[in-house]
Amino acid sequence: MANIPSGNRDSFGSKFGVIAAAAGSAVGLGNIWRFPLVTTQNGGGAFLILYISFIVFIGIPVMLSEFSIGRRAQLNAFGSFKKLAPKTPWYLVGFLGILTAFAILSFYSAVAGWTLEYLVQAISGKLLHTDDYVKNFADFSTDVYRPLIWQMVFMFLTAIVVYAGIKKGIEKFTKILMPVLVILIGVVVVRSVSLPGAAEGIKYLFVPDWSAVNFKTVLMALGQAAFSLSIGMGTLITYGSYIQKDNHLLRTSSQVALADTSIAILSSLMVIPAIFAFSSVSIDQMSPGPGLVFEVLPAVFKAMPGGVIFAVVFFFLLAVAALTSTISVLEVVVAYLKEELGMTRGKATIIASVSISVLGVLATLSFSSLSGFHIFGLNIFDLLNFASANIMLTFGALFIVVFVGWKLGKSNFLDEISNKGEIKSVLHKIVFFIIRYIAPVAIGIIAVAALFIKGLT
Ligand code: PFF
Repeated sequence: MANIPSGNRDSFGSKFGVIAAAAGSAVGLGNIWRFPLVTTQNGGGAFLILYISFIVFIGIPVMLSEFSIGRRAQLNAFGSFKKLAPKTPWYLVGFLGILTAFAILSFYSAVAGWTLEYLVQAISGKLLHTDDYVKNFADFSTDVYRPLIWQMVFMFLTAIVVYAGIKKGIEKFTKILMPVLVILIGVVVVRSVSLPGAAEGIKYLFVPDWSAVNFKTVLMALGQAAFSLSIGMGTLITYGSYIQKDNHLLRTSSQVALADTSIAILSSLMVIPAIFAFSSVSIDQMSPGPGLVFEVLPAVFKAMPGGVIFAVVFFFLLAVAALTSTISVLEVVVAYLKEELGMTRGKATIIASVSISVLGVLATLSFSSLSGFHIFGLNIFDLLNFASANIMLTFGALFIVVFVGWKLGKSNFLDEISNKGEIKSVLHKIVFFIIRYIAPVAIGIIAVAALFIKGLT
């Protein structure tokens, strides 16, 4: 085993850098195109209340668990479990995280590639000169080469940032890109909520409809919270290993969760009022797939005064949000190859991105040449999406809280999050109680239910 001594490890250089990187991972396609639709279709304000409760009572404790595992071990997700629980099978949880990273990145990079195509279509003017947006998306996604080329471009951009390292790559880029993202979202939100008819959309979004809430809604809220916070696969264990020893981990976790949730809500304020103002398609009929962003929004932009500018800004910010997420997933695999197999960062980045791209090609081709190929009734894209987000992430989060609550134990955990007793907070003990008892039961229910309910997250 080629573990690198902690003194030589690259690390985040500033507190803002940690938040930018972790929030960059959390804020992604899940916030901008999934959250608004899932919320409006599942009871609006009622879903929001459930979602926020899960973020606070489950999401933050799991995030804190991951950060504390990584920072304590100073290693990648796999190596962290091996170091903290030697001679036990716990390292398999780390290994599950590496596999989940492969699965997520392969389909996520496909969608991320679409955002580049749409950005180029918006800039060239083609997008707003189209009449049939469903056909436009179908023409593009069933093409064999274009989606693949964009996916490779996206993987290449991801690899460049990861190759540059933690301080000079991930931290530097997210520190620039995250504020840009927030400003751009702010601009689009202001435009969207000032459109005629926007009030209807805002009402639809926030007024609680408790009749829409059932067991599946509860499970969806928890699943969406986990996916959105990037918890359950070791991304935050890996990032945690780069966090300085004096960082206040509970505060950082809360700030990241707050940023992620605010951006999810702002994304809804950006998308839903605009659809109410301009779209002829009813929100209830939209599917939580590519539909909203790639088929409905372009029509909204076309109908909107100044729409071309907003289309360019929107697809640019979608690509940026996706990029700051994909780098965090690739880093999970790169850190593993580097520290466990002794590769240089360059070699690890090339091997990880090329092998993930091979799986990614299969995901993308499931819209064209492999569209007839199904496993368990799903094409490869849907299978990777379903297996990773619904099953692997939730089981990952379950194993992580059980590990911290029952294996790492109270004193080690409190020692880590209090910076060896320097930070005193009653919240620390409460969080540990949640991690040990409440989170395993709550996540356990979703993890098992996820095996049976299709299309959960
Ligand atoms: N949190 C990202 C999103 O909401 O789009 C997706 C994601 C990134 C999930 C990284 C998991 C992960 F490790």
